[in-house]
Amino acid sequence: MKPERTVSLGPSEADLDQAAALLRDGHLVAFPTETVYGLGGNALLGNAVAGIYAAKGRPSFNPLIAHVSSKEAAQDLVHWSGLAEPLADAFWPGPLTLVLPLKEGHGVSGLVTAGLDTLAVRVPGHPTARRLLEKVAAPVAAPSANPSGRISPTTAAHVMAGLDGRIAAVVDDGPCAVGLESTIVGLAGPDPMLLRPGGVATEEIEAALGMPLVQRNAADPLTAPGQMLSHYAPDAPVRLNASIRSGDEVLLGFGAMDCDLNLSPTGDVTEAAANLFEFLHRLDGRGRPIAIAPIPQHGLGLAINDRLRRAAAPRDSGVTGAS
Ligand code: TXA
Ligand code: MG
Repeated sequence: MKPERTVSLGPSEADLDQAAALLRDGHLVAFPTETVYGLGGNALLGNAVAGIYAAKGRPSFNPLIAHVSSKEAAQDLVHWSGLAEPLADAFWPGPLTLVLPLKEGHGVSGLVTAGLDTLAVRVPGHPTARRLLEKVAAPVAAPSANPSGRISPTTAAHVMAGLDGRIAAVVDDGPCAVGLESTIVGLAGPDPMLLRPGGVATEEIEAALGMPLVQRNAADPLTAPGQMLSHYAPDAPVRLNASIRSGDEVLLGFGAMDCDLNLSPTGDVTEAAANLFEFLHRLDGRGRPIAIAPIPQHGLGLAINDRLRRAAAPRDSGVTGAS
């Protein structure tokens, strides 16, 4: 990816206006939350979200949290529930993330949810984060702002140490108060489930809900029970490394070629990542087997190939889960 100059901004109105404009335009901006610094990208723009994975050097697509400025903004994206209400009232804004079913017309890139039909949403408590999100007026996808495999950043200096030259800007507003990622509660299944322990204690959540949280089995992938694992794989059989159609297959292309949909006619792996989940869904809707062109093993090509291998694996092999 192209190196860029990473601008250091502060929490002033003028600087947050600049950060918000960068995010709206699809650039990446790291910003403080009360838990850790987030690596933000406009969740509505596939290329911006692909850029997040590229900047972090993530070898696989994990679903990301959409950060919004208010409960109402969250309700535009997901089907609200009777359990979400008391949790949002008690802990938002704050270090709690709720996973809920996506709403029709949500507009969020399929790369944010990694193809799931649920979305993780959070209203961060840090006032600078909230002012920034208000100004962006769009959901901002943000994993922790560290290169993949490194520890989560709790200062702007940590962010710069890992990501300088890979993102457009960092908003520096001092160290994060909580220093630990948000607690994630899954509300898309039959029972409320603790998906990740974090900044809000489990007992506090159970007290607000008036019922216990189902614990995630440690052996299960984070997105497993009741979280619609099967949506990681298309219904149709998938054949990889195909250059032409065979039988009644539809062909998902890459680079200059004759095909039904092309992930990137110019052979750009970042553009291909941005289109991946959306195009798989569209081709799956045609009810025919899917053949997929070879994707080069560089940059986001690694994560694309990881996801495609899962999509093509036998459906009972247990390898379709998130990593
Ligand atoms: O405190 C935090 O949550 C920080 C700050 C920046 O907000 N963010 C953060 O993001 O920790 P990240 O990407 O490092 O972790 C997000 C977690 C991942 O483990 C992912 O699997 C899970 O959220 N997740 C996201 N969407 C999900 C979904 N639809 N279903 C289940 N889990 C989901
Ligand atoms: Mg992280």
